[in-house]
Amino acid sequence: MIQLTDAEFNELVTYIKKNYGINLIKKRLLIEARMYSVLAKHGFTSFTEYINLIKRDPAELNTMLNKLTTNHTYFMREPRHFEFLKDVILPGQKQLNKNKVLKIWSAGCSTGEEAYTAVMVMKDFFALDKTWDYRILATDISTHVLERAKLGVYSPESLKNIPAPWEKRYFKKTSSNEYAISEEIKREVIFKRLNLMEPFPFRSRFDLIFCRNVMIYFDQQTKNNLIKKFYDILKPGGYLFIGHSETVQRDTVDFKYIEPSIYLKG
Ligand SMILES: C[S@@+](CC[C@H](N)C(=O)[O-])C[C@H]1O[C@@H](n2cnc3c(N)ncnc32)[C@H](O)[C@@H]1O
Repeated sequence: MIQLTDAEFNELVTYIKKNYGINLIKKRLLIEARMYSVLAKHGFTSFTEYINLIKRDPAELNTMLNKLTTNHTYFMREPRHFEFLKDVILPGQKQLNKNKVLKIWSAGCSTGEEAYTAVMVMKDFFALDKTWDYRILATDISTHVLERAKLGVYSPESLKNIPAPWEKRYFKKTSSNEYAISEEIKREVIFKRLNLMEPFPFRSRFDLIFCRNVMIYFDQQTKNNLIKKFYDILKPGGYLFIGHSETVQRDTVDFKYIEPSIYLKG
């Protein structure tokens, strides 16, 4: 393993935190372990050589982000959010939303399971009414996970919480014992690369934002700034879902607390 000097570690951690929000201050060993094969491939013997490379080569910077982001996810993770979508949000929309367009964003979508699960919930809910447009925007900083999300092929482990009727209806087993998601679900999700630290590029606002298990890697100030941006980009009456281990600090914004990890823009 190639070890980071204190100066190299500080430079890398500061750069990643400033540009991507991710705080790796306690992850020195993780950086050394995950970057080892990349440094070895280039024949580098120090991180200084690698830091110089990422400064001039955006593709290499991208490789580093692919390596250093934590992307664990699975279908039906934290199922209360999908229940709340089905039992509260969608009935409310059905009653009040006359143009029948729902705008949903999975921010920090990783390999797509969160967005695809939400589509399955909506397919069930709107089964008898095909006039609704509920395509989901799903974004992440890592191009590697976005490619996998677009491919839509998953391990049995990732499907462990999926209800049997959904597994039957929406997945096909591949020859390598994985599960390929159906086109019917895939076509409802648009995947794009987006860095949550940058100004949002949207022209219209959202009815629901999932940003679950993304901010755990951010410090408090970064979280507060991002939550303010989510508040501004939600429609009045829109909801924010965060991970169950995360919180929105009171006084940062006017979000109304509904229940753990569910917030409403009143
Ligand atoms: C653990 S996954 C969460 C996946 C899913 N939301 C869930 O709850 O299962 C966190 C994702 O956040 C992404 N991420 C981290 N920092 C980001 C940033 N600044 N902009 C966009 N995505 C980011 C990572 O690449 C990673 O795929």
